[in-house]
Amino acid sequence: MNPYVPLKTRLEAERLRQAAEALERVLADLATVIRPGVLTSDLEQVARLSLARHGLNGVLEGYEGYPHPICTSVNNVAAHGRPSDYELQTGDLVTVDLSAERSGWRADGAWTYGVGRISSEGRRLQRAAWRATLAGAAAARAGARLGDIGAAILAEAARAGCTVVREFTGHGIGTNLHEPPSVPHTATRGSGEPIVPGMVFNVEPVLTLGSGEVTKLDDGWSYITADGSLAAQYEVTVSVRSNRTDILTLGRHRPLLDRSTPPYG
Ligand code: MF3
Ligand code: CO
Repeated sequence: MNPYVPLKTRLEAERLRQAAEALERVLADLATVIRPGVLTSDLEQVARLSLARHGLNGVLEGYEGYPHPICTSVNNVAAHGRPSDYELQTGDLVTVDLSAERSGWRADGAWTYGVGRISSEGRRLQRAAWRATLAGAAAARAGARLGDIGAAILAEAARAGCTVVREFTGHGIGTNLHEPPSVPHTATRGSGEPIVPGMVFNVEPVLTLGSGEVTKLDDGWSYITADGSLAAQYEVTVSVRSNRTDILTLGRHRPLLDRSTPPYG
């Protein structure tokens, strides 16, 4: 096993759960304000207030020079879109990605919201991204291998006729936003390092309706799909123990986890 993966004790994993559950409340708050006419910069303001209300400090602002507390990625933006005066329109898919800390423990999550009534293609993508993320999380069991996660994500995406963006990987999380291990979202079953108790990492595949190729815009941050196709992403944190794996970011929705659609958005 990679000796540099910082394994978490039960107590440390509980601290991470508290931060993760608070972050989930911020994602749920955002769902209540997203509608046509709202600017992505409004979502930034709502996120600031909600982070504070839930006892979190945002950590994205200033992270590698990124100038906002959240990323807002609309439609063909696959990741790291910047809040702006863009006005959300009926049918848009907007992914909000945000990272925060409480007492030094990091939380990181992303959610794709539909704006008003969305197309059936948009809905298909949104559901596929949700199911792929849960399938990846379910594959994150002690005794399995990291590649089993990417294999599960790929299989679920393929079932819905969607692709997975290869470039973006999941990551360990703890007192740092990004720690080992790196978690590929496209992989072969049985490949990669063993998954061991104490690992806590994020699974966050970006799915598209097109080729899955992305290009970086010259704003230095946004990645768009090369073919202009829609993209969607859910990011969850999993905590691996010897006899179970918990999804820390979905604590409030544990009873809903066998459902095929996201609980909000
Ligand atoms: N939430 C992102 C992640 O999962 C954090 C990086 S966003 C950036 O890695 F725009 F700041 F780079
Ligand atoms: Co992340």
